[in-house]
Amino acid sequence: MSIKIKPLLLGVNIDHVATLRQVRRSVYPSVSQAAMEVLKGGADYITIHLREDRRHIQDFDLVDLLKKGFDVNLEICPSEEMVDIAVNNKPKFCCLVPEKREELTTEGGLDLINNYNQVESAVASLSNAGISVSLFIEPRKEFINAAKSLKATYVELHTGNYANATNDSQSIELLKIKEAADYGRRNQLIVNAGHGLDYANVLSIARLISLSELNIGHAIVSRAVTVGLQTAVAEMKTLVER
Ligand code: PXP
Repeated sequence: MSIKIKPLLLGVNIDHVATLRQVRRSVYPSVSQAAMEVLKGGADYITIHLREDRRHIQDFDLVDLLKKGFDVNLEICPSEEMVDIAVNNKPKFCCLVPEKREELTTEGGLDLINNYNQVESAVASLSNAGISVSLFIEPRKEFINAAKSLKATYVELHTGNYANATNDSQSIELLKIKEAADYGRRNQLIVNAGHGLDYANVLSIARLISLSELNIGHAIVSRAVTVGLQTAVAEMKTLVER
């Protein structure tokens, strides 16, 4: 008897296409053209993070991508301003992430225990608007339990600690992700993962059968500088196909 394993989906985060545009306040490169290239390379979704400081993606990028018919996974922090923007624009998916102005990139998962009420209200508003909600969390059982009681459809496990770890500690971080992913699946959540994944460290994560989708940005956009966006995505897609 053969066992059918679902293909692992790839969401590509194109924030850093906008970063390149914003450092010069130019009109290029085009985020929507990049989205097109990314899909041609085999990506399943486009992910963008609308940060409160608007350092890369701008509100008009979200409007433009949706107008052009892209299935967008919008990452936002659970503030009133951001939730209102999502509710008014209705992307297909929203992933709630923590946000600090001073950070270079998202540094960890949402603390669902200490921010329970704020996240609960954000999930309710987004779900009522017909948006599927994902919660970006550390790979820990208590956060999976909280995500479940918050009625999220998806969780995205933070892989940053795994990505930054070396040698023995990397296998410990990998095991935490595996156990959290298995636990999430057993609890009927759809479990995604992302952050800090690159062409070398993605393989061990892609082998975890409880995962449904990986979200990868910086490594792919960086690789695109030498091989082009379509090829960079296609190379990653080959690695995540198990
Ligand atoms: N997933 C989430 C929730 C993120 O916030 C980010 C970065 O915006 C990513 C995935 C992609 O991370 P990276 O750019 O390190 O691949």
